[in-house]
Amino acid sequence: MIQPDSSCAVTVNGISVRVPPGASVAAALVAAGTLCTRRSVTGQMRFAFCGIGQCQECRVSIDGQPHRLACRTSCKEGMHIVTGGEG
Ligand code: FES
Repeated sequence: MIQPDSSCAVTVNGISVRVPPGASVAAALVAAGTLCTRRSVTGQMRFAFCGIGQCQECRVSIDGQPHRLACRTSCKEGMHIVTGGEG
């Protein structure tokens, strides 16, 4: 059972946010005010679209690992998320 006061801290582009345990990385991005997961090859901002791991629009870097799906990855304490990558 998740306690009401439990949360975990992650950073999104250096901004620290607290989210409920098990929240998706996409939710943490919204909490941090970041509405760009990656950039297309022409530089357009992209963000989570399908939310089920199909569109690949939500790819971000997590703890140095590129191309992780923000919609399918749960936040963990101390996670470092970086957005805006190309590809
Ligand atoms: S939002 Fe589509 S794969 Fe993550």
